[in-house]
Amino acid sequence: MAPGKSRAQKNRPSLPRRTDKRIDALLSLLSENTTIVISGAQIAKEIGVRRQTVWRWIETLRAAGVKVKGHPRTGYHIERAADVLAPKLLARGLRGTPFAKHIFHFFKVDSTNTVAMRLGEEGEAHGTVVVAEEQTSGRGRAGHSWHSEKAAGIYVSILLQPQISPMLAPALTLVAGLAAYDAIAEGSGLLPDIRWPNDVLLKGKKVCGILTEMQTEPDRMHFAVVGIGINVNQSKMPGELASIATSMRMETGRAHSRLELLARLLWHLDRYYNQFIAEGAAPILRRFAEVSSYFEGKRVRISTSTDNFVGTTAGLEPMGILRVKRDDGKIESVISGTVAEAE
Ligand code: BTN
Repeated sequence: MAPGKSRAQKNRPSLPRRTDKRIDALLSLLSENTTIVISGAQIAKEIGVRRQTVWRWIETLRAAGVKVKGHPRTGYHIERAADVLAPKLLARGLRGTPFAKHIFHFFKVDSTNTVAMRLGEEGEAHGTVVVAEEQTSGRGRAGHSWHSEKAAGIYVSILLQPQISPMLAPALTLVAGLAAYDAIAEGSGLLPDIRWPNDVLLKGKKVCGILTEMQTEPDRMHFAVVGIGINVNQSKMPGELASIATSMRMETGRAHSRLELLARLLWHLDRYYNQFIAEGAAPILRRFAEVSSYFEGKRVRISTSTDNFVGTTAGLEPMGILRVKRDDGKIESVISGTVAEAE
């Protein structure tokens, strides 16, 4: 058996291969020299591959929505910096945060959360970011799936290793929701809402969902994976999602840079996370109360694995758990479950 690996670890399927560093270099090269035509030979020399490989990778970028002009005989160029969430392009906007160093990018993957959980088990560092252009099995809360159209949204999972008790997990999920709220507010120029614990809404429809998963011992969190999905440039939402979900583009009438939005999201996450670690949950709860119409006085329907009832929200408990007052006056503490606005 490989040293340091348990039998269970050894028998697991290997992790999907992340985007080749040289494709990352190719994208940076094109993005740093927009409008300049660079010959295939020059690119090949610069990134250290054969010309045929350059041609193949240019096709990969085109399939991911990058508008690369030109062909093997004349050379290639792009008119504006590519909006691909590739490590080199992303890291530029993240210097000074713990998220710039370990970025795993995939053009297509089943679920960034699944990959990040595996990386957590394998001991990857705090701040590791897993990001994809497309997910084939994006996972949502309560066993739902997450619609992950290619190059239209942000599908990102962040590995965190806070030295906290698992009791504080609900507050950690609020931290992620607040970061997404600020990024979406700044990026869209609109005023979002947060539905507890961390769905971000634009005009009452969901624009962002967050799935937090963790590995814990009774008194200690090993690591948490915060998986964030933001609908950015979708021009419509499919089927039954149309009445409950929206995208930033659908609400603002213009396309948004995913690269810029993701950098904003991670900056805000760094800020709220540091505040949470330094000062505890109290400032996080205060900020939630400021920005969420669900904090207090909202008629809601609560569905948990064991219960389904209507009541009125009555603030949060110190760890971030939602309090809901039933119509008979009894206060319920909702640790997890689905919250919907009641008619
Ligand atoms: C929800 O149901 O609201 C949570 C949705 C979370 C979706 C994101 S997309 C990136 C990450 N990878 C996943 O498989 N899920 C999360």
